[in-house]
Amino acid sequence: MRFEFGSKSKSKLKYFVALEFKKLLNILVLHGPNLNLLGQREPGVYGSATLNDINQLLEREAQALQVTVSIQQSNHEGVLVDAIHSMLGQHQGLLINAGAYTHTSVAIRDAIAGVNIPAVEVHLSNIYRREAFRHNSFIAAVAIGQISGFGSESYLLGLQALVSHLIKN
Ligand code: DQA
Repeated sequence: MRFEFGSKSKSKLKYFVALEFKKLLNILVLHGPNLNLLGQREPGVYGSATLNDINQLLEREAQALQVTVSIQQSNHEGVLVDAIHSMLGQHQGLLINAGAYTHTSVAIRDAIAGVNIPAVEVHLSNIYRREAFRHNSFIAAVAIGQISGFGSESYLLGLQALVSHLIKN
C-alpha cells in the first residue's frame, strides 16, 4: 500500500524538517579590523556598544533562532581569509563586517566566492552616506545581501536574514 501525503501534511513535514535543520546551523560571524575598538572608536559614527556587547546580542539572537554562532575578530586580512576557508564542513553561513577591508580586499571577496557558502555583509554605519571611498564594497557582489546603517542592530537583522535564507534554500 502506498501512503500519500496530503498537501497540508507535506507542508507540515517541510516545516518540521526546516526546524530540525535550523538546530544544526552553525554560523560564522567575522568582525574585521578596528572593530575591537568599538565603544571608544568614533562613537558618533559607530555608537557606544562595545564588540563584546554586540557579541552578546548575537549570542542571544542565535539562541532565539535556535542556531549556533562562532564569533571571531581580526585586524589581519590573511587571518580573515583563513577563517573563511576553515568554514568548509563546519559552518553553513557567514555574517561578516569586514570593516575597511570591505572597500579594499579582493582576497576576502575571493575567499567568500571560493568556499561558496552563503554570506551576509553588515555595517554599523550607512556606508553610502559616508565618504565616496566607502561606497564600493568588494564583498557585496558575492554576498546574498547587505545590511548597512542600523548600528548594532545591523548584525541582528543580518543574522535573521541569513538564517531565513538558509532555511528556505
Ligand atoms: C564599517 C564601515 C567601514 O567603512 C569602516 O571602515 C569600518 C566599519 C561599519 O561597520 O560601518 O571599519 O564596516
